[in-house]
Amino acid sequence: MIQFHHVSLEYPVTRTLALDDVNLHIKKGEFVYLVGHSGAGKSSFMSLVLKRSLPSKGEVYVAGEPLRRFRGGRTAMHRRRIGMIFQDNQLLPHLSSADNVAFALRVTGVPRREWDERVSGALKLVGLDHKKHALPVQLSQGEQQRVAIARAIVSEPPLLLADEPTGNLDPENSRDILKVLQNVNLRGTTVVVATHARDLVETFRHRTLTLRRGRLVRDDPYGGYAL
Ligand SMILES: Nc1ncnc2c1ncn2[C@@H]1O[C@H](COP(=O)(O)OP(=O)(O)OP(=O)(O)O)[C@@H](O)[C@H]1O
Ligand SMILES: [Mg+2]
Repeated sequence: MIQFHHVSLEYPVTRTLALDDVNLHIKKGEFVYLVGHSGAGKSSFMSLVLKRSLPSKGEVYVAGEPLRRFRGGRTAMHRRRIGMIFQDNQLLPHLSSADNVAFALRVTGVPRREWDERVSGALKLVGLDHKKHALPVQLSQGEQQRVAIARAIVSEPPLLLADEPTGNLDPENSRDILKVLQNVNLRGTTVVVATHARDLVETFRHRTLTLRRGRLVRDDPYGGYAL
């Protein structure tokens, strides 16, 4: 699903080497953690996969295709096939849960008559079907993050990227989010989670990639936090 071939990313101006000769292969259907200290390059990894940045060296492949070759429309299509979740859920405050999730369907090819069913299905998967009329302010942080997951998966993207999805949550809510992400993965979606949350990585074991100052220093198939 994702392949990095000798990928380096140097940010211009500051000339920070955010990723340094990274080679990796994440297969379709995998659940992978990306761990590392602040500044290790986790978000830079995500932005390369989304083609928000291009590598200074090497090549990134998603679903076998080299991203560098994509032009305008093809890049937009590529991004639509990736669900993305951030630390701050970025829900639209004036829209209900259901409308926030449906909002993500506007730019997909899903016909309008299927929207309700899709939205209900996504909200059910995250355990929030009963809060579909609630506005974000009427939801807890954990619930808001679950709506954000529903929004990210409602178009059934083959790949889900989560950048610090539990960053603002207490341990119990964090575990719930992890369980939801695992359920998404069980349905066949490839999931990559960037996180600092050592206890989660230790509790819900999955392949773990460790970055240190831009270098991939560990690739542990059985997981565990080794910083
Ligand atoms: N737009 C940018 N311009 C210049 N340097 C940047 C930019 N974005 C990130 N960096 C630098 O690149 C390095 C990697 O940053 P990145 O955001 O990928 O780290 P991270 O692992 O996601 O950290 P955190 O855990 O704090 O989110 C850091 O040294 C950072 O300062
Ligand atoms: Mg980051």
